[in-house]
Amino acid sequence: MTGLLIGSTVKAQLSAVNSNQEKKIQSLIRQMTLAEKVSLLHGNSKFYVAGIGRLGIKEWALSDGPHGVRAEINRHDWAYAGWTNDSATCFPPGTALAATWNPELAYRRGIVLGEEARFRKKDVLLGPGINIIRSPLCGRNFEYLSEDPLLISKMAVAYIKGLQSKDVAASVKHWLANNQETHRDSVNVHMSERALREIYLPGFKAAITEGGAYTVMAAYNKFRGDWCSENIYLNRDILRKEFGFKGVLMTDWAAAHSTVKAAMAGLDLEMGTDKADYNQWYFADPLISAVKEGKVPMAVVDEKVANVLRVMMATKMFEENNRAKGAMNTPEHQQAAYNDAAEAAVLLQNEGHLLPIDFSKIKSVAVIGDNATRKHCNGGLSSEIKALYEITPLEAIRKKFGANVQINFAQGYEKTSTFKEGNNTGQLTADKVDWKLIDEAVKVAKAADVVVIVGGLNHDFDTESFDKQHMDLPYGQEVLIREVAKANPKTVVVIIAGSPVKLSGIVQRVPAILWSWYGGMEAGNVVADLLSGKVNPSGKLPFTLPVSLDQSPAHALGNFPGRELEVNYEEDILVGYRWFDTKKITPQFPFGYGLSYTEFSIDGFTTNRKQYNSGDTIFAKCTIKNTGARAGAEVVQLYASDPVCTVLRPEKELKDFAKVYLQPGEAKTVELKVKVADLAFYDESRKAWNVEAGDFLLQIGNSSRNMVSSVSIAVK
Ligand code: BGC
Repeated sequence: MTGLLIGSTVKAQLSAVNSNQEKKIQSLIRQMTLAEKVSLLHGNSKFYVAGIGRLGIKEWALSDGPHGVRAEINRHDWAYAGWTNDSATCFPPGTALAATWNPELAYRRGIVLGEEARFRKKDVLLGPGINIIRSPLCGRNFEYLSEDPLLISKMAVAYIKGLQSKDVAASVKHWLANNQETHRDSVNVHMSERALREIYLPGFKAAITEGGAYTVMAAYNKFRGDWCSENIYLNRDILRKEFGFKGVLMTDWAAAHSTVKAAMAGLDLEMGTDKADYNQWYFADPLISAVKEGKVPMAVVDEKVANVLRVMMATKMFEENNRAKGAMNTPEHQQAAYNDAAEAAVLLQNEGHLLPIDFSKIKSVAVIGDNATRKHCNGGLSSEIKALYEITPLEAIRKKFGANVQINFAQGYEKTSTFKEGNNTGQLTADKVDWKLIDEAVKVAKAADVVVIVGGLNHDFDTESFDKQHMDLPYGQEVLIREVAKANPKTVVVIIAGSPVKLSGIVQRVPAILWSWYGGMEAGNVVADLLSGKVNPSGKLPFTLPVSLDQSPAHALGNFPGRELEVNYEEDILVGYRWFDTKKITPQFPFGYGLSYTEFSIDGFTTNRKQYNSGDTIFAKCTIKNTGARAGAEVVQLYASDPVCTVLRPEKELKDFAKVYLQPGEAKTVELKVKVADLAFYDESRKAWNVEAGDFLLQIGNSSRNMVSSVSIAVK
């Protein structure tokens, strides 16, 4: 069961900055010249902000990124600095973390990232990235978490609490609606107020109000006509007033567009602007002039400086002796990276129980595919990691089983795409079928007892700054898989990818498919242990896997990536499974889905009452039992529906979940809870959340499409 650790050990929030510290902040501000104040509000290099030595204010050090601390970059250009002590622990990226459905792993990851950030003397880590997975094509889906706001919220809160407990500030990004990379720095996003409230805001709200995130990063795009970095509605009305955010709102790198407007709209810190003279940045000399000309009141500057100092205090920059100590790449860190990858893997199908493979009973394995030997940690742009090491699947399979089993490798397909920042047309030339490689693979497959094809994508596709052009498996992999499976039906496909790919061309052809994401530095070890059954898959899809792109909402309605730099989220609240379920579209694999090498039963679903008032919490219970022969974990998911409502509601919405670990034959009671207030919809006519009185249906299951039991409750 998850949750205990997270709730009980953490209290580092900005509210932890006490009244004495607030007094010190005001006293420091009183001692500053205007130039000194402004020096705290813009970068003085790629990732640093100047300190004020005479007042004991240290330089502020920021670093990417969400799944590892990025290697040191030169102060004044984007080249790596060539340090020898910056090889980091590399975790599996965002979608993999969400696929664990285990917030405790997110908390633990936060701690590791915090320790490594401190080792590198960093004060702010630029993550987590929590934008909604709106389209299967978004290039940064792999960095984000899910299509579901609740899953995002739970994972992000835990991650932030872990990270900040090590005196490093999180930066929740990208605020808001950076749901595509195409024209990310110019597109204007429109969505209804209801979609904003129900889908796109909750993750950020939880990150700030529950996770206590110290900093937020404003997205590149526009929202309802105004750049996110100078959007009064987002930054003043919602972030500051509604969420009570007291930390630092910074730009994404080069996402500032003005001085006065941005300053008045609540932006605190300008980073990454593309001007070599830092004094020319919007929040440098132009801000000083704006204050002198009376266009920006001094009080507004002071407010920003206070926000910066408050985050510095919260992360103990004024009490270094008392600050969390750093550590790099300890065995515990590496174990944490392994655990995340192990719990993330999703078993999509396993006909005839081909998996796990008993390596003591076979003589030979054919390992096929470019991803069997490819390393991925160092890809994806700003989230790329210089990993201390990265084990590939072939390396691990050889090491673990090579002494007794003949392991033959065939390339199968070649990575023909190329990625260049600023030009990713390489993706489009990646559909060539290489028959020579296929023939070689078929030969190797025929001679083997079992075949493992390790395919999927790489960071030419899952990358910042570009969206995927399609959802297909590139490089002729479908043909390869078909031909290999004809030659040897005992074929397992391992998919390495961080965003949805089309599997309709292979699901009928191979018995077993295991989705193991980008697995970070322990990727190969985890794949080998999953294949052998040392690890029992327990991951669940954090997004819907459509049969084809046109099934998914933004594409069905033709509003991705928009026209003439305008994109209107017409699908509204029907994002991900909310769309598929409500529109009765059968996806390839649903949200929340994933198999195990064992079996579970879920029984006895009850709620503590049948009738509730709007301020109540519903306490639900069920019993889950491992009815199979192996230890394993299942994720019990609770969904709610509002069958009669004055507005359209999604057919169902995730309201709580718990991951439960069970020995063979073991049973546990699972407790789940839902606040009645969380059954509300956002009522645009009243500009408020609304729980209409009446009946609600609560259902539990082990995926969004496999409900095993339901209870009807009434709200008065
Ligand atoms: C990305 C951010 C990242 C920043 C600094 C931007 O391009 O959008 O997520 O933190 O660069 O590298």
